[in-house]
Amino acid sequence: KKIYILNGPNLNLLGKRQPEIYGHETLADVESACRQVASDAGLEIAFHQSNHEGAIIDLIHEARDSGAGIVINPGAFTHTSVAILDALNAFEGPVLEVHISNVHKRESFRHHSYVSLRADGVIAGFGTQGYQLAVQRMARLLGGQ
Ligand code: DQA
Repeated sequence: KKIYILNGPNLNLLGKRQPEIYGHETLADVESACRQVASDAGLEIAFHQSNHEGAIIDLIHEARDSGAGIVINPGAFTHTSVAILDALNAFEGPVLEVHISNVHKRESFRHHSYVSLRADGVIAGFGTQGYQLAVQRMARLLGGQ
């Protein structure tokens, strides 16, 4: 079974971008940690990042009908994108939402998530470790472990 790990805008700058908020690990570090956890659970990973809303929507469509699960950190699109919510609502598998920072401790515009209306679980404020925890949980949801 497969897990799509989708990352939204500015996450390509992880490690360089506001490290006091997002830490020093890069997205490549996150990807290799996720691959480790997934391979221990016998799961395949498709790991992507895009700064473009439509590209993220295309990847959610790609995940349809594949029996996959989606772990998504939509970045700022979390708080703005009805289109990503609609795409996730057209996806039948499990969805987990990850935020590196604790969005609830930050500006009020980060407190609302469109994606949370669809997500089966949400992790926020666990740093980049949140991705590994989400992959572990997804392994359980997909029945791989
Ligand atoms: C984020 C939180 C969002 O509010 C922000 O726009 C991001 C990253 C996080 O991982 O903490 O880009 O999703």
